[in-house]
Amino acid sequence: MTDLNFGYMLRSIHRWSAQVMVAAVFLHMLRVYFTGSYKEPRELNWLIGIVLISLTMFFGYSGYLLPWDQLAFWAGQIGVEMALSVPLAGEWAAQLVFGGFSLGQATLQRMYIIHVFFLPFVVTTLIAIHIGIVWMQGIAEPH
Ligand code: HEM
Repeated sequence: MTDLNFGYMLRSIHRWSAQVMVAAVFLHMLRVYFTGSYKEPRELNWLIGIVLISLTMFFGYSGYLLPWDQLAFWAGQIGVEMALSVPLAGEWAAQLVFGGFSLGQATLQRMYIIHVFFLPFVVTTLIAIHIGIVWMQGIAEPH
């Protein structure tokens, strides 16, 4: 924000683009729903879409924690408690996503790897499959 030339601008572009992406994916889903473009034979693409919107949210959340400021800390705290409240798999989920039952160095490292390595690969692959299916099936005529 302060040392890198135009660092503050780079961060702001990333931050606001992320907000626009979440809104755009949501609007795209509404477009698909209200034009009935999820109906046969596009059910699989709708399901891939549901995974994509969930991963887009996780992209936003993992990125939200990386500044590691007060906002990030309390958002992380809520996340750990939500994970721990999952019946049976709660502790496992908290270990997997947050690196433990409370926030710490492991959480920051895990969120960083998820945000800059794991999610980019998974989401890019899914978007390629998603658009590939559209390319094969063509855009649906509004139902
Ligand atoms: C990162 C997120 C996503 C990206 C980049 C993406 C991209 C696209 C693109 C470029 C198309 C073709 C043009 C268009 O109809 O707009 C498309 C079609 C489609 N998308 Fe997505 N999408 C995403 C998320 C979703 C979500 C959340 C859903 C639903 C839950 C969804 C369901 C569909 C369906 C069913 C089609 C076919 C529509 C048709 O043939 O008219 N997509 N997607």
